[in-house]
Amino acid sequence: MDKPLIVVNFKTYQTASGESAEQLATVMEQVANRNYRMIAVVSAFDLSLISNNTDSVEVWSQHLDPVGKGSHTGWLEPDLAIYRGAVGTIINHAEHKVTIDHVRDLMAMLPENFPICACAADVEEAIALAKLGPTFIAVEPPELIGGDISVTSADPSIVSDTVAAVKSTNPNVRVLCGAGVKNGADVKKAIELGAEGVLLASGVTKASDVSSVLNDLTS
Ligand code: G3P
Repeated sequence: MDKPLIVVNFKTYQTASGESAEQLATVMEQVANRNYRMIAVVSAFDLSLISNNTDSVEVWSQHLDPVGKGSHTGWLEPDLAIYRGAVGTIINHAEHKVTIDHVRDLMAMLPENFPICACAADVEEAIALAKLGPTFIAVEPPELIGGDISVTSADPSIVSDTVAAVKSTNPNVRVLCGAGVKNGADVKKAIELGAEGVLLASGVTKASDVSSVLNDLTS
């Protein structure tokens, strides 16, 4: 297996926006270069700021739209995101759902080797997305997002079932899991269940000691 992924979604948390986003990315940078692939998924407004100040941490967008240059007011155009430092993106997050056509059209526009992580609420949605062949699928039960119990403890079978279903649909798609992930034990359990990493937010963005949490996640 490649290096497991620790994907930190900054969302619009105060502690992960603007100057605070820069500080959080700096702490991530300090714990990077170990045995994990670290990814900061930042607001489109912060792409430039963070990408200019990170080296080992990959900077991804939280969403992109399948539009090009032209009359597309307010949409997140992939080429501009890439110009501003995005080297990957998530799509169809539980907090920003899109249609399957949106994912398909976006994938058709993205450069080769630009990782896209499509989020799925359950096994059925993961199978539908796997047919499109995104780089990653992250399974995140919506009811566990932002909660105290990791998906790996609350619903381990959704992780292993998603891995099995995705691999039998498209063996090239790699599976992540998320919702409630807080510590290194949750990461290890995710890997035991067949995932190749985790997608998390509040465990980092709400932590009083971010450095210690990140060190534990990557221990
Ligand atoms: O994108 C990650 C997210 O939805 C999980 O959030 O706060 O449960 O780690 P959280």
